[in-house]
Amino acid sequence: MTGQSSATFKNEVSDLKKEASDLQHEVSDLAAKLGEAWEELSLFYELSQSLVGNLDIEAAGRTLLQQARDRIDGEGAVILLQTPEEPWKVLEQTQPLKGNEWLSGPEAQSLAGRILRRNRPLILNQLSDGAVWQGVPLPVHWRSLLAVPINPKGSIQGILLVWNKRKGPFTAGDGKLLSAIATLAGGTMESAFLYRRLSDTYQGILVSLATAVDAKSRWTAGHSQRTTGYALALAEYMNLPADYLEKVRTSGLLHDIGKIGVPDAILDKPSDLTPEEFELMKQHPEIGYRILQGIRQFHGDILDGVLYHHERVDGRGYPKGLSGENIPFMGRLLAVADGFDAMISDRPYRPGKTKEEALEEIRTGAGTHWDKQLALKFVEMMKDRPLLKEDEINL
Ligand SMILES: [Fe+2]
Ligand SMILES: [Fe+2]
Repeated sequence: MTGQSSATFKNEVSDLKKEASDLQHEVSDLAAKLGEAWEELSLFYELSQSLVGNLDIEAAGRTLLQQARDRIDGEGAVILLQTPEEPWKVLEQTQPLKGNEWLSGPEAQSLAGRILRRNRPLILNQLSDGAVWQGVPLPVHWRSLLAVPINPKGSIQGILLVWNKRKGPFTAGDGKLLSAIATLAGGTMESAFLYRRLSDTYQGILVSLATAVDAKSRWTAGHSQRTTGYALALAEYMNLPADYLEKVRTSGLLHDIGKIGVPDAILDKPSDLTPEEFELMKQHPEIGYRILQGIRQFHGDILDGVLYHHERVDGRGYPKGLSGENIPFMGRLLAVADGFDAMISDRPYRPGKTKEEALEEIRTGAGTHWDKQLALKFVEMMKDRPLLKEDEINL
């Protein structure tokens, strides 16, 4: 090799080495980015798994806070939330620290409001005792803080705040990660909030309808709510699943809705009904069924309760005269609760029975009037329980 070619060779080797080293840096940069992306991806996966179908704001908050504490590694973390109906409140916090009352005071609310308005992460490191941010005095034990807004444009809004990172300062990366957590959980909280609002409206309409029907006669005031209360108590006592309890609630409140179509003079009559009047009265389950059958979501159990709550297992009930297990379960369940409330209520032509007398009648009618198992369970359940009062029924 000549001197010249040896020099060229050395240059080429050095270029190659440099290229290899650049490549190595690039690869490790990419690997680091891949690690970060994986971290974010797995976080999103875990969070979405735990949040799916979660319509409980408090539960979503707890998940959010756990993830924040674990991923960001602060000494403490807190969520402050407000809704159009409620002012700022502390939803959850990990590790209560000294100066805890600060979190429920005006300073925390002011800080939360400012973080929401700026709509991006706030990072403060190297805080000293008596530190103040935008006029808000911070707790003395805070050495650093990271806060992000939750759902700044939604109906339910809040902030997620982590303080005192255990190792080093809070970084822009921490801010990004916390924002990602807040975005995902914020969406869930918004859905949960809207669900709760819709559900409250729905329950409100149901109770109004039931009250309107019961108000047609002073003798039936509160009957639908009490019947629902007894039916729900029995369904819970028998460990029926939560989604069935929801149906019991709706069916119970609406079971007598068909009385809307029965003349007030009959409902409110101060003496026994004539056979003709009784025939009109007996139409209320079918009238109720016709009123509600256009609502697809009520098909099945809910309408069964409306149509069949006056059937008897011996086949002598109405409107269809079904017997035994041919009567759908909701009809048999409501029949016990409905019959019990009717017996203990005063009527113009007779005073109400005592609890013991009514339970004895249900026990006697188990297997003829009422489903045997349901009737006996009801008697067993009510033995040690007081009668329901409307203002105490929480539907
Ligand atoms: Fe009825
Ligand atoms: Fe009834």
